[in-house]
Amino acid sequence: HRRQKILVVANRLPTKPKRDAEGNWTFERCSGGLVSCLAGIQQKFDMVWLGWPGADFNDTEKEMVANEAMKQGCYPVFLRQSLIDEYYNGFANNVLWPLFHYIMPPFDKGVNECSTEQWGAYKKANEIFTEAILSVYEDDDYVWIHDYHLMLVPKFLREAKPDCNIGWFLHTPFPSAEIYRTLPWRQEIIESLLHSNLLGFHVYDYLRHFLSSCVQLTSLEISAHTIDATTIGGCIVKCATVPIGISPDEFLWAMKKPEVQSKIEHLHEQYEGRKVILGIDRLDYMKGIPHKLMAFGCFLEHHPDWADKCVLVQLAVPSRRDVPEYQRLQRQVHELVGQISGKHSTISAGVPVIYMDSSMSPDDLTALYNVADVALITSLRDGMNLVSYEYIACQHGKQHPGVLILSEFAGAAQSLGAGSIRVNPWHLQDTANAIHEALTMSSEEREALQEYAFKYVTEHTAQKWAETFLQCLQEACSDLMEVT
Ligand code: UDP
Ligand code: G6P
Repeated sequence: HRRQKILVVANRLPTKPKRDAEGNWTFERCSGGLVSCLAGIQQKFDMVWLGWPGADFNDTEKEMVANEAMKQGCYPVFLRQSLIDEYYNGFANNVLWPLFHYIMPPFDKGVNECSTEQWGAYKKANEIFTEAILSVYEDDDYVWIHDYHLMLVPKFLREAKPDCNIGWFLHTPFPSAEIYRTLPWRQEIIESLLHSNLLGFHVYDYLRHFLSSCVQLTSLEISAHTIDATTIGGCIVKCATVPIGISPDEFLWAMKKPEVQSKIEHLHEQYEGRKVILGIDRLDYMKGIPHKLMAFGCFLEHHPDWADKCVLVQLAVPSRRDVPEYQRLQRQVHELVGQISGKHSTISAGVPVIYMDSSMSPDDLTALYNVADVALITSLRDGMNLVSYEYIACQHGKQHPGVLILSEFAGAAQSLGAGSIRVNPWHLQDTANAIHEALTMSSEEREALQEYAFKYVTEHTAQKWAETFLQCLQEACSDLMEVT
Protein backbone atom coordinates (compact mmCIF):
# COMPACT_ATOMS: atom_id res chain seq x y z
CA HIS A 1 0.00 0.00 0.00
CA ARG A 2 1.45 3.38 -1.05
CA ARG A 3 2.18 5.87 1.74
CA GLN A 4 0.28 9.10 1.43
CA LYS A 5 2.54 12.04 0.66
CA ILE A 6 2.12 15.58 1.86
CA LEU A 7 2.64 18.00 -1.00
CA VAL A 8 3.70 21.26 0.56
CA VAL A 9 3.10 24.06 -1.92
CA ALA A 10 4.54 27.47 -1.15
CA ASN A 11 5.66 30.29 -3.39
CA ARG A 12 9.25 29.91 -2.19
CA LEU A 13 11.51 26.89 -1.88
CA PRO A 14 13.63 26.76 1.29
CA THR A 15 16.89 27.35 -0.54
CA LYS A 16 17.90 29.42 -3.52
CA PRO A 17 20.30 27.88 -6.07
CA LYS A 18 23.25 30.02 -7.13
CA ARG A 19 26.21 29.41 -9.39
CA ASP A 20 29.64 30.34 -8.03
CA ALA A 21 32.58 31.67 -10.08
CA GLU A 22 33.72 28.11 -10.97
CA GLY A 23 30.25 27.25 -12.22
CA ASN A 24 29.32 25.02 -9.28
CA TRP A 25 25.85 25.18 -7.81
CA THR A 26 25.47 26.27 -4.20
CA PHE A 27 22.30 26.65 -2.20
CA GLU A 28 21.60 29.68 -0.07
CA ARG A 29 19.03 29.46 2.73
CA CYS A 30 16.05 31.78 2.16
CA SER A 31 14.82 34.12 4.87
CA GLY A 32 11.36 34.48 6.35
CA GLY A 33 9.10 32.78 8.85
CA LEU A 34 7.44 30.39 6.40
CA VAL A 35 10.74 28.93 5.23
CA SER A 36 12.20 28.77 8.78
CA CYS A 37 9.22 26.87 10.10
CA LEU A 38 8.73 24.44 7.24
CA ALA A 39 12.44 23.78 6.75
CA GLY A 40 12.63 22.93 10.45
CA ILE A 41 10.07 20.15 10.10
CA GLN A 42 10.83 19.01 6.55
CA GLN A 43 12.72 15.87 7.64
CA LYS A 44 10.11 14.84 10.20
CA PHE A 45 7.25 14.36 7.71
CA ASP A 46 6.94 12.55 4.41
CA MET A 47 6.91 15.87 2.68
CA VAL A 48 7.54 16.99 -0.88
CA TRP A 49 8.00 20.73 -1.34
CA LEU A 50 6.93 22.56 -4.49
CA GLY A 51 7.94 26.17 -4.94
CA TRP A 52 9.65 28.83 -7.00
CA PRO A 53 13.45 28.57 -6.84
CA GLY A 54 13.88 32.33 -6.44
CA ALA A 55 15.22 33.35 -9.87
CA ASP A 56 14.75 32.95 -13.60
CA PHE A 57 16.92 30.22 -15.16
CA ASN A 58 17.71 29.27 -18.76
CA ASP A 59 16.86 25.80 -20.08
CA THR A 60 20.21 24.15 -19.29
CA GLU A 61 20.26 25.71 -15.84
CA LYS A 62 16.70 24.54 -15.17
CA GLU A 63 17.71 20.93 -15.55
CA MET A 64 20.59 21.32 -13.12
CA VAL A 65 18.45 23.23 -10.63
CA ALA A 66 15.71 20.61 -10.83
CA ASN A 67 18.20 17.76 -10.25
CA GLU A 68 19.84 19.48 -7.31
CA ALA A 69 16.52 20.52 -5.75
CA MET A 70 15.14 17.00 -6.14
CA LYS A 71 17.96 15.71 -3.91
CA GLN A 72 16.48 17.85 -1.16
CA GLY A 73 12.91 16.66 -1.75
CA CYS A 74 11.99 19.85 -3.62
CA TYR A 75 10.31 20.36 -6.98
CA PRO A 76 11.10 23.74 -8.51
CA VAL A 77 8.24 25.59 -10.16
CA PHE A 78 9.91 27.76 -12.81
CA LEU A 79 8.43 31.16 -13.55
CA ARG A 80 9.59 33.63 -16.20
CA GLN A 81 10.95 36.98 -15.01
CA SER A 82 8.04 38.89 -16.58
CA LEU A 83 5.60 36.74 -14.61
CA ILE A 84 7.61 37.22 -11.43
CA ASP A 85 7.40 40.98 -11.93
CA GLU A 86 3.65 40.96 -12.34
CA TYR A 87 2.66 38.12 -10.03
CA TYR A 88 5.22 38.18 -7.20
CA ASN A 89 6.48 41.78 -7.12
CA GLY A 90 3.16 43.10 -8.40
CA PHE A 91 -0.02 41.39 -7.25
CA ALA A 92 1.29 39.35 -4.31
CA ASN A 93 3.64 41.90 -2.80
CA ASN A 94 2.28 45.22 -3.95
CA VAL A 95 -1.47 44.57 -3.75
CA LEU A 96 -2.19 41.67 -1.37
CA TRP A 97 0.69 42.05 1.11
CA PRO A 98 -0.03 45.72 1.98
CA LEU A 99 -3.80 45.16 2.11
CA PHE A 100 -3.52 42.09 4.34
CA HIS A 101 -1.40 44.26 6.66
CA TYR A 102 -4.03 47.02 6.70
CA ILE A 103 -2.42 49.36 4.19
CA MET A 104 -4.93 50.66 1.66
CA PRO A 105 -3.95 52.11 -1.72
CA PRO A 106 -3.40 55.93 -1.60
CA PHE A 107 -6.70 57.68 -0.84
CA ASP A 108 -6.82 59.43 -4.22
CA LYS A 109 -6.21 56.29 -6.28
CA GLY A 110 -8.42 53.42 -7.31
CA VAL A 111 -7.37 50.20 -8.93
CA ASN A 112 -5.63 50.93 -12.20
CA GLU A 113 -4.87 48.99 -15.35
CA CYS A 114 -1.57 47.97 -13.89
CA SER A 115 -3.09 45.93 -11.07
CA THR A 116 -5.65 44.40 -13.43
CA GLU A 117 -2.77 43.04 -15.49
CA GLN A 118 -1.10 41.88 -12.31
CA TRP A 119 -4.26 40.01 -11.36
CA GLY A 120 -4.04 38.20 -14.72
CA ALA A 121 -0.45 37.23 -13.89
CA TYR A 122 -1.50 36.08 -10.44
CA LYS A 123 -4.07 33.76 -12.02
CA LYS A 124 -1.49 32.51 -14.51
CA ALA A 125 1.07 31.80 -11.79
CA ASN A 126 -1.55 29.96 -9.73
CA GLU A 127 -2.36 27.85 -12.80
CA ILE A 128 1.32 27.01 -13.25
CA PHE A 129 1.58 25.95 -9.59
CA THR A 130 -1.54 23.80 -10.02
CA GLU A 131 -0.03 22.06 -13.05
CA ALA A 132 3.14 21.42 -11.07
CA ILE A 133 1.08 19.85 -8.27
CA LEU A 134 -0.78 17.66 -10.75
CA SER A 135 2.50 16.41 -12.20
CA VAL A 136 3.51 14.83 -8.86
CA TYR A 137 0.11 14.21 -7.31
CA GLU A 138 -1.05 10.66 -6.64
CA ASP A 139 -4.48 9.65 -5.35
CA ASP A 140 -5.01 10.20 -1.60
CA ASP A 141 -2.05 12.59 -1.23
CA TYR A 142 -2.60 15.61 0.97
CA VAL A 143 -1.98 18.97 -0.64
CA TRP A 144 -1.01 21.68 1.83
CA ILE A 145 -1.02 25.10 0.17
CA HIS A 146 0.67 28.05 1.88
CA ASP A 147 0.05 31.74 2.01
CA TYR A 148 -1.40 34.66 0.11
CA HIS A 149 0.52 33.94 -3.11
CA LEU A 150 -1.50 30.84 -3.96
CA MET A 151 -5.10 31.56 -3.04
CA LEU A 152 -6.50 30.50 -6.43
CA VAL A 153 -4.87 27.07 -6.34
CA PRO A 154 -7.64 25.37 -4.27
CA LYS A 155 -10.25 25.99 -6.98
CA PHE A 156 -8.01 25.09 -9.92
CA LEU A 157 -6.93 21.92 -8.16
CA ARG A 158 -10.43 20.91 -7.08
CA GLU A 159 -11.62 21.28 -10.70
CA ALA A 160 -8.86 18.97 -11.90
CA LYS A 161 -9.08 16.50 -8.99
CA PRO A 162 -12.51 16.62 -7.34
CA ASP A 163 -11.49 14.18 -4.57
CA CYS A 164 -8.25 15.87 -3.67
CA ASN A 165 -7.50 16.55 0.04
CA ILE A 166 -6.74 20.27 0.17
CA GLY A 167 -5.58 22.41 3.09
CA TRP A 168 -4.50 26.05 3.00
CA PHE A 169 -2.67 27.99 5.68
CA LEU A 170 -2.26 31.75 5.82
CA HIS A 171 1.04 33.03 7.24
CA THR A 172 -0.06 36.67 7.34
CA PRO A 173 -2.96 38.34 9.11
CA PHE A 174 -6.35 38.08 7.43
CA PRO A 175 -7.53 41.68 7.65
CA SER A 176 -10.84 42.96 8.94
CA ALA A 177 -13.66 42.44 6.42
CA GLU A 178 -13.89 46.24 6.13
CA ILE A 179 -10.41 46.24 4.64
CA TYR A 180 -10.70 43.01 2.70
CA ARG A 181 -13.85 44.05 0.87
CA THR A 182 -12.02 46.95 -0.82
CA LEU A 183 -10.16 44.38 -2.95
CA PRO A 184 -11.71 44.26 -6.44
CA TRP A 185 -11.03 40.50 -6.67
CA ARG A 186 -12.41 39.72 -3.20
CA GLN A 187 -15.10 37.38 -4.53
CA GLU A 188 -12.92 35.18 -6.74
CA ILE A 189 -10.36 34.78 -3.99
CA ILE A 190 -12.81 33.85 -1.24
CA GLU A 191 -14.67 31.48 -3.54
CA SER A 192 -11.47 29.74 -4.55
CA LEU A 193 -10.40 29.28 -0.93
CA LEU A 194 -13.77 27.66 -0.25
CA HIS A 195 -12.70 24.76 -2.48
CA SER A 196 -10.32 23.65 0.32
CA ASN A 197 -11.24 21.15 3.02
CA LEU A 198 -9.43 23.10 5.70
CA LEU A 199 -8.37 26.73 6.07
CA GLY A 200 -5.87 27.52 8.83
CA PHE A 201 -4.94 30.81 10.50
CA HIS A 202 -2.37 31.82 13.13
CA VAL A 203 -4.76 33.44 15.57
CA TYR A 204 -8.47 33.51 16.19
CA ASP A 205 -8.89 37.15 15.08
CA TYR A 206 -7.73 36.32 11.55
CA LEU A 207 -10.16 33.42 11.34
CA ARG A 208 -12.97 35.65 12.61
CA HIS A 209 -12.16 38.29 9.96
CA PHE A 210 -12.21 35.63 7.28
CA LEU A 211 -15.62 34.36 8.41
CA SER A 212 -17.01 37.93 8.47
CA SER A 213 -15.77 38.40 4.92
CA CYS A 214 -17.56 35.21 3.90
CA VAL A 215 -20.76 36.44 5.52
CA GLN A 216 -20.51 39.78 3.72
CA LEU A 217 -19.51 38.46 0.33
CA THR A 218 -21.39 35.18 -0.01
CA SER A 219 -24.78 33.91 1.03
CA LEU A 220 -23.36 30.68 2.38
CA GLU A 221 -24.29 29.07 5.65
CA ILE A 222 -21.69 29.17 8.38
CA SER A 223 -21.88 27.37 11.67
CA ALA A 224 -19.25 26.31 14.18
CA HIS A 225 -16.42 27.49 11.91
CA THR A 226 -17.72 25.31 9.11
CA ILE A 227 -18.87 26.76 5.81
CA ASP A 228 -21.05 24.82 3.42
CA ALA A 229 -19.78 25.99 0.03
CA THR A 230 -21.16 23.09 -1.99
CA THR A 231 -23.74 25.32 -3.71
CA ILE A 232 -20.91 27.27 -5.37
CA GLY A 233 -19.06 24.11 -6.37
CA GLY A 234 -16.85 24.23 -3.27
CA CYS A 235 -16.66 22.03 -0.18
CA ILE A 236 -17.79 21.71 3.37
CA VAL A 237 -14.92 23.85 4.61
CA LYS A 238 -13.53 23.76 8.14
CA CYS A 239 -11.70 26.80 9.50
CA ALA A 240 -9.20 26.41 12.33
CA THR A 241 -6.78 28.45 14.40
CA VAL A 242 -3.43 26.66 14.38
CA PRO A 243 -0.65 28.91 15.69
CA ILE A 244 2.76 28.33 14.15
CA GLY A 245 5.90 27.78 16.25
CA ILE A 246 9.64 27.23 15.92
CA SER A 247 11.90 24.19 16.46
CA PRO A 248 13.42 25.33 19.78
CA ASP A 249 15.72 22.30 19.99
CA GLU A 250 17.64 23.50 16.96
CA PHE A 251 18.57 26.68 18.82
CA LEU A 252 19.23 24.87 22.10
CA TRP A 253 21.59 22.45 20.31
CA ALA A 254 23.23 25.24 18.34
CA MET A 255 23.99 27.14 21.55
CA LYS A 256 26.00 24.15 22.79
CA LYS A 257 28.25 24.04 19.71
CA PRO A 258 31.82 25.18 20.48
CA GLU A 259 31.84 27.51 17.46
CA VAL A 260 28.65 29.23 18.67
CA GLN A 261 30.05 29.44 22.21
CA SER A 262 33.14 31.18 20.89
CA LYS A 263 31.00 33.61 18.88
CA ILE A 264 29.06 34.36 22.08
CA GLU A 265 32.29 35.03 23.98
CA HIS A 266 33.55 37.25 21.23
CA LEU A 267 30.33 39.31 21.22
CA HIS A 268 30.48 39.69 25.01
CA GLU A 269 34.00 41.07 24.71
CA GLN A 270 33.02 43.38 21.90
CA TYR A 271 30.08 44.91 23.75
CA GLU A 272 31.56 44.83 27.23
CA GLY A 273 30.02 47.47 29.48
CA ARG A 274 27.10 48.04 27.09
CA LYS A 275 23.66 46.48 26.99
CA VAL A 276 22.72 45.05 23.61
CA ILE A 277 19.26 45.83 22.24
CA LEU A 278 18.58 43.58 19.26
CA GLY A 279 16.38 44.01 16.20
CA ILE A 280 16.11 41.23 13.59
CA ASP A 281 13.69 41.90 10.75
CA ARG A 282 13.31 41.49 7.04
CA LEU A 283 13.58 44.99 5.62
CA ASP A 284 9.81 45.29 5.34
CA TYR A 285 7.65 48.31 6.08
CA MET A 286 5.37 46.14 8.23
CA LYS A 287 8.19 45.55 10.70
CA GLY A 288 8.09 49.18 11.84
CA ILE A 289 11.88 49.64 11.63
CA PRO A 290 11.59 53.45 11.31
CA HIS A 291 9.30 53.47 14.37
CA LYS A 292 11.85 51.40 16.26
CA LEU A 293 14.69 53.76 15.36
CA MET A 294 12.64 56.82 16.25
CA ALA A 295 11.62 55.29 19.59
CA PHE A 296 15.27 54.45 20.31
CA GLY A 297 16.21 58.05 19.45
CA CYS A 298 13.46 59.25 21.79
CA PHE A 299 14.77 56.99 24.56
CA LEU A 300 18.29 58.45 24.16
CA GLU A 301 16.89 62.01 24.22
CA HIS A 302 15.22 61.33 27.54
CA HIS A 303 18.05 59.25 28.98
CA PRO A 304 21.30 60.68 27.62
CA ASP A 305 23.19 58.83 30.37
CA TRP A 306 22.41 55.58 28.48
CA ALA A 307 24.07 56.74 25.23
CA ASP A 308 27.39 55.07 26.03
CA LYS A 309 25.87 52.20 28.00
CA CYS A 310 23.74 50.56 25.32
CA VAL A 311 23.76 49.80 21.62
CA LEU A 312 20.99 48.94 19.19
CA VAL A 313 22.09 46.14 16.87
CA GLN A 314 19.68 46.06 13.94
CA LEU A 315 19.84 43.42 11.21
CA ALA A 316 17.68 44.34 8.21
CA VAL A 317 17.54 41.28 5.97
CA PRO A 318 17.12 42.33 2.31
CA SER A 319 13.68 41.46 1.00
CA ARG A 320 11.64 42.03 -2.20
CA ARG A 321 14.17 44.49 -3.52
CA ASP A 322 12.37 44.96 -6.83
CA VAL A 323 9.28 46.44 -5.17
CA PRO A 324 9.64 50.26 -5.08
CA GLU A 325 8.14 50.59 -1.59
CA TYR A 326 10.97 48.45 -0.20
CA GLN A 327 13.60 50.59 -1.91
CA ARG A 328 12.03 53.73 -0.42
CA LEU A 329 12.01 52.11 3.00
CA GLN A 330 15.71 51.34 2.78
CA ARG A 331 16.54 54.97 2.01
CA GLN A 332 14.36 56.17 4.89
CA VAL A 333 15.94 53.71 7.33
CA HIS A 334 19.47 54.66 6.27
CA GLU A 335 18.63 58.30 6.83
CA LEU A 336 17.24 57.65 10.31
CA VAL A 337 20.26 55.56 11.33
CA GLY A 338 22.47 58.44 10.16
CA GLN A 339 20.46 60.99 12.14
CA ILE A 340 20.55 59.00 15.37
CA SER A 341 24.25 58.23 15.02
CA GLY A 342 25.03 61.86 14.24
CA LYS A 343 23.16 63.01 17.30
CA HIS A 344 24.17 60.41 19.88
CA SER A 345 27.60 59.05 18.92
CA THR A 346 30.45 59.77 21.33
CA ILE A 347 34.20 59.50 20.95
CA SER A 348 34.38 57.10 23.88
CA ALA A 349 31.52 54.75 23.01
CA GLY A 350 31.22 55.19 19.25
CA VAL A 351 27.89 54.84 17.44
CA PRO A 352 24.67 53.91 19.27
CA VAL A 353 23.24 51.93 16.32
CA ILE A 354 24.97 49.09 14.50
CA TYR A 355 22.88 48.65 11.40
CA MET A 356 23.38 45.91 8.78
CA ASP A 357 21.66 45.46 5.43
CA SER A 358 22.35 41.73 5.32
CA SER A 359 21.35 38.27 6.40
CA MET A 360 23.25 36.12 8.88
CA SER A 361 24.20 32.48 9.24
CA PRO A 362 22.14 30.47 11.75
CA ASP A 363 25.18 30.23 14.08
CA ASP A 364 25.77 33.99 14.09
CA LEU A 365 22.07 34.59 14.61
CA THR A 366 21.96 32.19 17.57
CA ALA A 367 24.96 33.89 19.20
CA LEU A 368 23.45 37.33 18.73
CA TYR A 369 20.08 36.23 20.15
CA ASN A 370 21.92 34.80 23.14
CA VAL A 371 23.97 37.86 24.07
CA ALA A 372 21.16 40.40 23.54
CA ASP A 373 19.82 41.94 26.75
CA VAL A 374 16.69 43.13 25.01
CA ALA A 375 14.92 42.09 21.80
CA LEU A 376 12.89 44.91 20.28
CA ILE A 377 10.04 43.98 17.93
CA THR A 378 7.92 46.86 16.68
CA SER A 379 5.88 45.31 13.84
CA LEU A 380 2.97 47.48 12.72
CA ARG A 381 1.25 44.22 11.72
CA ASP A 382 2.75 40.75 11.66
CA GLY A 383 1.12 37.37 11.05
CA MET A 384 3.00 35.81 13.97
CA ASN A 385 6.70 36.87 14.24
CA LEU A 386 9.02 33.95 14.83
CA VAL A 387 11.97 36.15 15.72
CA SER A 388 10.34 36.74 19.12
CA TYR A 389 10.15 32.95 19.71
CA GLU A 390 13.73 32.42 18.60
CA TYR A 391 14.97 35.11 20.99
CA ILE A 392 13.18 33.42 23.91
CA ALA A 393 14.65 30.02 22.98
CA CYS A 394 18.17 31.48 22.92
CA GLN A 395 17.80 33.16 26.31
CA HIS A 396 17.32 29.74 27.88
CA GLY A 397 19.79 28.77 30.56
CA LYS A 398 21.10 32.29 31.11
CA GLN A 399 21.51 33.35 34.70
CA HIS A 400 20.09 36.77 33.92
CA PRO A 401 17.78 36.39 30.94
CA GLY A 402 17.01 39.30 28.66
CA VAL A 403 13.67 40.97 28.03
CA LEU A 404 11.44 40.79 24.98
CA ILE A 405 9.66 43.99 23.93
CA LEU A 406 6.89 42.94 21.58
CA SER A 407 4.45 44.90 19.46
CA GLU A 408 0.83 44.23 20.30
CA PHE A 409 0.18 44.10 16.54
CA ALA A 410 2.19 40.91 16.05
CA GLY A 411 0.27 37.62 16.24
CA ALA A 412 2.90 36.49 18.77
CA ALA A 413 1.65 39.10 21.24
CA GLN A 414 -1.36 36.88 21.81
CA SER A 415 0.83 34.02 22.98
CA LEU A 416 3.86 35.78 24.47
CA GLY A 417 1.99 38.80 25.79
CA ALA A 418 2.44 37.80 29.42
CA GLY A 419 6.09 36.90 28.81
CA SER A 420 7.10 40.25 27.36
CA ILE A 421 6.64 44.00 27.60
CA ARG A 422 3.89 44.77 25.11
CA VAL A 423 4.03 48.03 23.20
CA ASN A 424 2.04 50.01 20.70
CA PRO A 425 4.75 50.74 18.10
CA TRP A 426 2.90 53.81 16.81
CA HIS A 427 3.32 55.38 20.25
CA LEU A 428 7.02 56.21 20.20
CA GLN A 429 7.14 57.36 23.81
CA ASP A 430 5.50 54.10 24.90
CA THR A 431 8.25 52.11 23.17
CA ALA A 432 10.95 54.43 24.53
CA ASN A 433 9.60 53.86 28.06
CA ALA A 434 9.56 50.12 27.45
CA ILE A 435 13.23 50.21 26.44
CA HIS A 436 14.05 51.95 29.72
CA GLU A 437 11.91 49.51 31.67
CA ALA A 438 13.58 46.52 30.01
CA LEU A 439 17.08 47.85 30.65
CA THR A 440 16.40 48.51 34.32
CA MET A 441 14.16 45.54 35.16
CA SER A 442 15.08 43.40 38.18
CA SER A 443 16.45 39.91 37.65
CA GLU A 444 13.42 38.33 39.31
CA GLU A 445 10.99 40.05 36.97
CA ARG A 446 13.04 39.09 33.92
CA GLU A 447 13.21 35.49 35.01
CA ALA A 448 9.43 35.40 35.50
CA LEU A 449 8.81 36.75 31.98
CA GLN A 450 11.32 34.35 30.44
CA GLU A 451 9.92 31.36 32.27
CA TYR A 452 6.42 32.07 30.99
CA ALA A 453 7.54 32.70 27.41
CA PHE A 454 9.95 29.73 27.25
CA LYS A 455 7.22 27.36 28.41
CA TYR A 456 4.98 28.55 25.60
CA VAL A 457 7.69 28.36 22.94
CA THR A 458 8.71 24.81 23.89
CA GLU A 459 5.13 23.58 24.13
CA HIS A 460 3.93 25.09 20.83
CA THR A 461 6.57 23.97 18.38
CA ALA A 462 6.65 23.91 14.59
CA GLN A 463 6.26 20.15 14.72
CA LYS A 464 3.14 20.43 16.84
CA TRP A 465 1.78 23.06 14.48
CA ALA A 466 2.22 20.77 11.47
CA GLU A 467 0.82 17.74 13.29
CA THR A 468 -2.24 19.68 14.43
CA PHE A 469 -2.88 21.14 11.00
CA LEU A 470 -2.51 17.77 9.28
CA GLN A 471 -4.73 16.07 11.81
CA CYS A 472 -7.44 18.71 11.33
CA LEU A 473 -7.06 18.29 7.57
CA GLN A 474 -7.45 14.55 7.82
CA GLU A 475 -10.57 14.98 9.96
CA ALA A 476 -12.01 17.59 7.59
CA CYS A 477 -11.48 15.26 4.64
CA SER A 478 -13.00 12.21 6.35
CA ASP A 479 -16.01 14.27 7.55
CA LEU A 480 -16.54 15.21 3.94
CA MET A 481 -16.58 11.56 2.93
CA GLU A 482 -19.25 10.85 5.54
CA VAL A 483 -21.44 13.67 4.23
CA THR A 484 -21.24 12.65 0.57
N1 UDP B 1 16.16 34.91 9.50
C1 UDP B 1 16.88 34.43 8.44
N2 UDP B 1 18.04 35.04 8.09
C2 UDP B 1 18.52 36.11 8.77
C3 UDP B 1 17.76 36.61 9.85
C4 UDP B 1 16.58 35.98 10.18
O1 UDP B 1 16.47 33.45 7.81
O2 UDP B 1 19.57 36.64 8.43
C5 UDP B 1 14.93 34.19 9.88
C6 UDP B 1 14.63 34.23 11.35
O3 UDP B 1 15.46 33.31 12.02
C7 UDP B 1 13.15 33.89 11.37
C8 UDP B 1 12.65 34.41 10.03
O4 UDP B 1 13.81 34.79 9.28
O5 UDP B 1 12.95 32.50 11.45
C9 UDP B 1 11.74 35.61 10.17
O6 UDP B 1 10.48 35.15 10.53
P1 UDP B 1 9.35 36.07 11.14
O7 UDP B 1 8.17 35.21 11.39
O8 UDP B 1 9.87 36.80 12.34
O9 UDP B 1 9.04 37.19 10.04
P2 UDP B 1 8.82 37.14 8.45
O10 UDP B 1 10.16 37.43 7.85
O11 UDP B 1 8.28 35.82 8.10
O12 UDP B 1 7.88 38.25 8.17
C1 G6P C 1 6.40 36.30 4.95
C2 G6P C 1 5.47 35.53 4.04
C3 G6P C 1 6.19 34.33 3.44
C4 G6P C 1 7.47 34.76 2.76
C5 G6P C 1 8.34 35.57 3.72
C6 G6P C 1 9.59 36.11 3.03
O1 G6P C 1 6.70 35.54 6.05
O2 G6P C 1 4.32 35.13 4.78
O3 G6P C 1 5.35 33.69 2.49
O4 G6P C 1 8.19 33.65 2.28
O5 G6P C 1 7.61 36.65 4.25
O6 G6P C 1 9.27 36.85 1.90
P1 G6P C 1 9.68 36.46 0.40
O7 G6P C 1 8.89 37.38 -0.46
O8 G6P C 1 11.16 36.68 0.35
O9 G6P C 1 9.36 35.01 0.19
